Amino acid sequence: MAEIKNILVLGTGLMGNGIGQVALMAGYNVTLVDIAEEALNKAYDDILKGLKKSEEKGKLPIKTPKTEDTPAVFYTADEIMANCKKSTDLASAVKDIDMVIEAIVEKMDVKKAVSKTTMDNGPDHIIFASNTSTMSITEIGKDCGKPAQVCGIHFFNPVALMACIEVIKGDDTSDATFDTAMKVAKSLPVLRGRRYIAPVLKDKPGFIVNRLNAPTNIYLSWVFDQALEKGILPDHPEQLDGDIGKLAAMPPCVLSDYVGLDTLYHVMKYNEVALSPDFKPGKVLNDMMEKGTLGRKTGQGFYDWSKGRPQPDLSVKAGLIDIDLLFSISLNEGCRILEEGVASGTKTIDDANMAGMNTPGPFGWGKRNAEKAVEMLNAFVEKTGIKYLTPCELLKSGGFKKMRK
Ligand SMILES: NC(=O)c1ccc[n+]([C@@H]2O[C@H](COP(=O)([O-])OP(=O)(O)OC[C@H]3O[C@@H](n4cnc5c(N)ncnc54)[C@H](O)[C@@H]3O)[C@@H](O)[C@H]2O)c1
Repeated sequence: MAEIKNILVLGTGLMGNGIGQVALMAGYNVTLVDIAEEALNKAYDDILKGLKKSEEKGKLPIKTPKTEDTPAVFYTADEIMANCKKSTDLASAVKDIDMVIEAIVEKMDVKKAVSKTTMDNGPDHIIFASNTSTMSITEIGKDCGKPAQVCGIHFFNPVALMACIEVIKGDDTSDATFDTAMKVAKSLPVLRGRRYIAPVLKDKPGFIVNRLNAPTNIYLSWVFDQALEKGILPDHPEQLDGDIGKLAAMPPCVLSDYVGLDTLYHVMKYNEVALSPDFKPGKVLNDMMEKGTLGRKTGQGFYDWSKGRPQPDLSVKAGLIDIDLLFSISLNEGCRILEEGVASGTKTIDDANMAGMNTPGPFGWGKRNAEKAVEMLNAFVEKTGIKYLTPCELLKSGGFKKMRK
């Protein structure tokens, strides 16, 4: 297994910024590369600020462990930043690099081009790891010349605070590349809780966490349209949110506004092609996209955000969202993930969801409620014709209960 000392973070926007910070904290020499000088300088300054904050809280790594007579000595932010370089030219910056972690724009042709530049100009052993959320790792690496040295390392936002990292094996990724990427991912600190690394064994859309949660959007989009027909939307989103109440940190209308209706819409459009036509966004989502009422970012979504986060009165319920059906949908998708060999067991999926979304996965509920889930899903598919939510074989047989690890 190649030893990784020098990491190049390619693309220093929102994600690259966080990846750079945790890689530096783990003790790697880090080269930040971006085509935009402004983004590069901002990332450098933001990382320094982040490290200074950690320094104040005593959260930087230990330089000299404590002894009987002396306290532990921690690195300072400035000492750590001494291992950070900047460049706008990938071809020259990659010369002495062991691993590139790519977090550039989500466009296949650009990702393919930079993976080729990496292999053409980097040392023989170099690994190219993509942080893509939606693209095929196999496709990114296919034409770079060394597809065995390409894999995925998928972080969650914000990188320094979200515990989950998915490491993805593309169809051509070698075991050595995958093992090295797992080792690097495990070495990266997280400032809240404990790092959790989910091995993703097959390159399928959404990997584990995003895939598990994707079909919930089919159901919610259907619920939004029902609420429109019944006159609950657009004026009473709080009644829909009342159906979930305090069971979620953010109920669905608040959450959709917070994430951005455009993000929700684009994720569904992506899954409409990648997974099933049933992901087609419904009328409410289409209307909101057209009107530009995208939630928090535009000041108006389901709620008015102009005076800050809304605090809806959740005491009246619309009676449209069935929480057990939500669990059933997620359980079914978890079983599909297992059927397709993307994850090895239910524990990985549950743990990844907790680390990536701060919510429990479906299998704790599922092992007691599998039969009920099958009945509920069948009834819903019959009522709506949304075939994607048909229970899969592994759910119907209950076989997932023997697949914990
Ligand atoms: N934003 C998220 O929550 C999130 C979560 C997980 C994964 N991702 C993935 O991470 C990647 C980056 O997302 P982001 O939100 O940080 O984007 P961003 O727009 O904040 O940053 C992208 C950066 O890449 C730079 N860039 C574009 N083309 C480049 C090139 N050819 N060479 C070098 N730099 C280039 C841009 O100048 C920009 O600074 C995407 O693949 C995205 O799917 C994003």
